[in-house]
Amino acid sequence: MYNPELMCLRMNIEFDLVPKDERKEKPTDVLQVSFGTVFSDHMFSTRHTGGSWEDARIHPFGPLSLNPAAQCLHYAHAIFEGMKAYRRGDRVLLFRPEMNFKRLNDSAERMVMPTIDPNFALQSLIELLKIEYEWVPEVPGSSLYIRPTMIATEPKLGVRPSLEYLYYIILGPVGPYFKEGFAPVKIFVSDKYVRAVKGGTGAAKTSGNYAACLLAGTDATKVGYSQVLWLDALERKWIEEVGTMNLFVRFDDEVATPPLGGSILPGVTRDSVLTLAKDYGLTPKERMISIYEVIEGLSSGKVKEIFGCGTAAIIAPVGSLWYKDTPYEVSNGQTGELTQRLFDDLIGIQSGEREDPHGWIVPVE
Ligand code: COI
Repeated sequence: MYNPELMCLRMNIEFDLVPKDERKEKPTDVLQVSFGTVFSDHMFSTRHTGGSWEDARIHPFGPLSLNPAAQCLHYAHAIFEGMKAYRRGDRVLLFRPEMNFKRLNDSAERMVMPTIDPNFALQSLIELLKIEYEWVPEVPGSSLYIRPTMIATEPKLGVRPSLEYLYYIILGPVGPYFKEGFAPVKIFVSDKYVRAVKGGTGAAKTSGNYAACLLAGTDATKVGYSQVLWLDALERKWIEEVGTMNLFVRFDDEVATPPLGGSILPGVTRDSVLTLAKDYGLTPKERMISIYEVIEGLSSGKVKEIFGCGTAAIIAPVGSLWYKDTPYEVSNGQTGELTQRLFDDLIGIQSGEREDPHGWIVPVE
């Protein structure tokens, strides 16, 4: 949609905006929106051809025009990020965006895609958010989900790195990620399929990792479970991560999470939880955790809490684990004390309601 009056050039970004009276209705109850199904009026995009990012634009959200031979469609040559913006009165706040853009570039390097200047990536997002600030919901428990995405667009079926890429950012208001809301989730331990192996792409946020997880998800659904916990690929013994979250276990006073070793996604929320746990005077450990230790600990009472964490999920208490045809209850199916404290503090910091002692918040201005 070309509107010469609204077209302007700022920071080398071209603006092509939807007239105010043609903008979409916002959802009346954002907490009821199914995650990732409603999108704002505009998106950002830039193309990489001939070795540099060009044609940076903020324009109406809408379908992409892609050649059916585009490499992303055939070889999952695609990466993405997940971030959120929160509203505090008139202010819009981002949470540790530099970590997401660093991870985007790490994913790009792993997948032989071009990197993007992190300052430019952040500034593009900020420019988009300035236009879409009315889309940042105010209701507690809601936020504006941000999906930066890079895809290989060259039409070529030969398998080699693409010579053309599209990077874009789309936005949409969201409530809780899980249908359970913020109530404890049920996690199915997969010992049949694996997600990643060291040396593979598990630490990159690349699209194929998620498609590869769907089959195990159907096993989980059959027994009424919603998420899959992955074990290591070699021994099927060491816990790795849940499909959309990193995992923490509290054994008595010890808080532990599996170490990043190349097969686990380096979560921004994971890193924040490690920091907050230290603030609480705990000594969180990044260590190998076997599924047997967890199952024994659930039976003996040594496992006090299990929770997942991620941008979309925030902090998700685990109420039940399914392992080898047996369900195990966690924390009596309730949210544990540490899980609740982390949830409250994290949401409090992200939404600007609590002090931000680590300087994690970046205001959109
Ligand atoms: C996120 O937490 O933002 C993710 O990327 C998980 C997602 C696949 C929903």
